[in-house]
Amino acid sequence: MAAGLVLLTLGLCALGGASAAAGFIKSPLSQKKLTEESVELHCEAIGNPIPEIQWWFEGADPNGTAIQLWDGAWQNRVQISATYQHHSSSTIAITNLMIEDSGTYECWASNDPDRNHLSKSPKVKWIRSQANVIVTKRAKISTSPEVTAGSNVIISCNISEASTPIKGNYWMKGETKLDSNTTALDFTSYMIPKVDYESSGEYHCIFDTSPLTKGTVLVKVAPNVVAYKKTEHGSEGDSVTLSCKSNSYPYVTQWTWYKVVDQVPQPIANGTDERFYIQSNGSKTDLRIILLHLEKDPGNYVCNGTNEIGTDSAEVTLRVRSRLAALWPFLGIVAEVLVLVTIIFIYEKRRKPNDISEDDDGGSAPLKGNTANNTDKNVRQRNAN
Ligand SMILES: *[C@@H]1O[C@H](CO)[C@@H](O)[C@H](O)[C@H]1NC(C)=O
Ligand SMILES: *[C@@H]1O[C@H](CO)[C@@H](O)[C@H](O)[C@H]1NC(C)=O
Ligand SMILES: *[C@@H]1O[C@H](CO)[C@@H](O)[C@H](O)[C@H]1NC(C)=O
Ligand SMILES: *[C@@H]1O[C@H](CO)[C@@H](O)[C@H](O)[C@H]1NC(C)=O
Ligand SMILES: *[C@@H]1O[C@H](CO)[C@@H](O)[C@H](O)[C@H]1NC(C)=O
Ligand SMILES: *[C@@H]1O[C@H](CO)[C@@H](O)[C@H](O)[C@H]1NC(C)=O
Repeated sequence: MAAGLVLLTLGLCALGGASAAAGFIKSPLSQKKLTEESVELHCEAIGNPIPEIQWWFEGADPNGTAIQLWDGAWQNRVQISATYQHHSSSTIAITNLMIEDSGTYECWASNDPDRNHLSKSPKVKWIRSQANVIVTKRAKISTSPEVTAGSNVIISCNISEASTPIKGNYWMKGETKLDSNTTALDFTSYMIPKVDYESSGEYHCIFDTSPLTKGTVLVKVAPNVVAYKKTEHGSEGDSVTLSCKSNSYPYVTQWTWYKVVDQVPQPIANGTDERFYIQSNGSKTDLRIILLHLEKDPGNYVCNGTNEIGTDSAEVTLRVRSRLAALWPFLGIVAEVLVLVTIIFIYEKRRKPNDISEDDDGGSAPLKGNTANNTDKNVRQRNAN
């Protein structure tokens, strides 16, 4: 408020010139609430200079007078936050509502310089905008206790001291409406065939009063941890992410990862070797390993999830391929080609001298014949000689 006034004064000094009376641009809305709930009312005003906003309350008591509310009033159940930038905006919040808080809440705005001079009758009155808040007694709901195990478990709710008529009741789990046993208006039950990770969760019994009255029964089980993939593959030098999830209620509060070394699980801390990084939330955990190592990293990894009920774990096997592995087929082809080329080359090389011998071979008989002929000729020639 003080800060607001300082800003207001600054505003007054800065703007000076053309002034405009205060006007509302947002008014608080009337609301119906139950005891112990909270209510928020919001108000915005414009004007030049920027108007001041106050909050006033007038109770249901016809004799009561309006009282101004300030930040911290009513044993700190009242909180007011205001901003005075370009225009004024103020929100009042009242927590832990009581029946006596029912009444009219007024947002007052004024930028009249004399607005706070009680002796002078202000030329311009404070302008006011109202909202009614009706607080009704919250009905009492008694619910059956929390469930953690069993089959054919019946959970139930029972309403009493409802301040408006009960028109019906039903059960919800998350966004799903359940088929429930509606034999009475003030009592309702639901049977859980089997308590497991699928049926775990928050069950709400809802009684159709105005406003609705809600009770909650929690069905809690240990985590149900499963690996996204039982086996992950990575290449040497690359990175890989091993993931586990749990889909039970309540959420996993603690995830841990282990590497199984000689059948002994060794915990992996986040940031180990600047290569292992863990990222988790209540339903999922990721172990990211960067710069995969061909010898050190392959093996079995265990993710372990724990909640207030228990713990469960799953195993992921990591295989790491050599960086050359991807090259093997290519290298195979290259090797094959090389072998072929070598064979052809050697063949060709040997073929050159063989060329003659091949002809020799082909004409070996005639050659011999020739030689014979020659000899014969020689002989004949000699003979002829
Ligand atoms: C209102 O005031 C009148 C007289 O001042 C008194 O008789 C009456 O009881 C008061 N009512 C309440 C609800 O306080
Ligand atoms: C409902 O709860 C009240 C107490 O809160 C108890 O007296 C009453 O017997 C319960 N009714 C049923 C049907 O459980
Ligand atoms: C419904 O609830 C009533 C009272 O608790 C019980 O007698 C009846 O057997 C229930 N019916 C079913 C279908 O569960
Ligand atoms: C692990 O460390 C990274 C940064 O180094 C951080 O973003 C992440 O939240 C940490 N995870 C856990 C489970 O602490
Ligand atoms: C965890 O994160 C995943 C996405 O990475 C999201 O789908 C899931 O709802 C989150 N769970 C919780 C409990 O925040
Ligand atoms: C999982 O972690 C919990 C708590 O950290 C521990 O008690 C439990 O033995 C671990 N379970 C496995 C299978 O490692």
